[in-house]
Amino acid sequence: MKQQLLAHRPVVVAHRGASVEAPENTLAAFRRALELGAPAMELDVHRTADGELVAIHDATVDRTTNGTGAVAEMTLEALRQLDAGAWKGKAFAGERIPTLAEVCRLARGRASLVVEIKAAGIADQVVATLEAEGVLDESFVISFSQETARRVKELRPDTTVGLLSGKAEDLPLVAELGLDAFCPHHAAATEEMARELHAANRLLSVWTVNDEEGMRRMAALGADLITSDNPALALKVLRRE
Ligand code: G3P
Ligand code: CA
Repeated sequence: MKQQLLAHRPVVVAHRGASVEAPENTLAAFRRALELGAPAMELDVHRTADGELVAIHDATVDRTTNGTGAVAEMTLEALRQLDAGAWKGKAFAGERIPTLAEVCRLARGRASLVVEIKAAGIADQVVATLEAEGVLDESFVISFSQETARRVKELRPDTTVGLLSGKAEDLPLVAELGLDAFCPHHAAATEEMARELHAANRLLSVWTVNDEEGMRRMAALGADLITSDNPALALKVLRRE
C-alpha cells in the first residue's frame, strides 16, 4: 500500500465497490466507487474450476447471480453467462462477474485495491496477478485465513498484508505472523487496540461501517482505514475540513 494513501486518514474503502448503490463485486460497483472519489476499493477473490481468479464474495453464485453452483466447480465461461446485476435492480441487468485482472485494470492509477483472498490455496496466483497488472505496490491484501496472510507476506515482504477477524483476541496473531495490519469487525475495535497497533507501526482497518455515528466513532478511536458499503456517506462524513 502506498504511503501517500495513508496521508489523509482514515482512508475510505468502498466495500465490494459502492455496494449500497450497485451490485457488489461488479465493474458497475467499482466504477461508481471511482466516480465518488473513493481512494480504495475492496473486493473478494475466488478461483474457478479452470483456474481463473474472479471477484465474488460467496463460494457459490447463488446469492448474487441468476445461477446456482460453486464457483470452484464452474469454468470462467460458465460464470460469464450469469447475470450478476439484475438482483440489485433492472438498471444493472447484464453485469457480469469480473476477473481479478479486470478489476485491477479499472483501478490502476485511480484507486488502491483491498484484495480479500477468500479461497484457500490461491495466494500465490493472486500475488502474481496483482504484480502482472502493476497494482501490487498499491494494494492491501487481507484474509481471514492465517495461512493465506502468512503466505502473501512470505512471498512479498513489502506488500501490506492484514488479518481479518471478528474477535479482538486475535490481535496478537498480527505480530506473530509478521503482518502489517489488523482488520477487525468494527464492533471489536477499541482505542487501546489502535494504540497498540500504531506503537508497532501497524494499521487498524475496520469493516463494515455503514452509519454516520459508527464512522465518526471509528475515526475518533484511530482507525486507519474504514470500509463501508456506502462510500458516498463515508466520504462526506469523514471529509477533512
Ligand atoms: O473488508 C473486510 C470484509 O469484507 C470482511 O467480511 O464477509 O464482507 O468479506 P466480508
Ligand atoms: Ca470482503
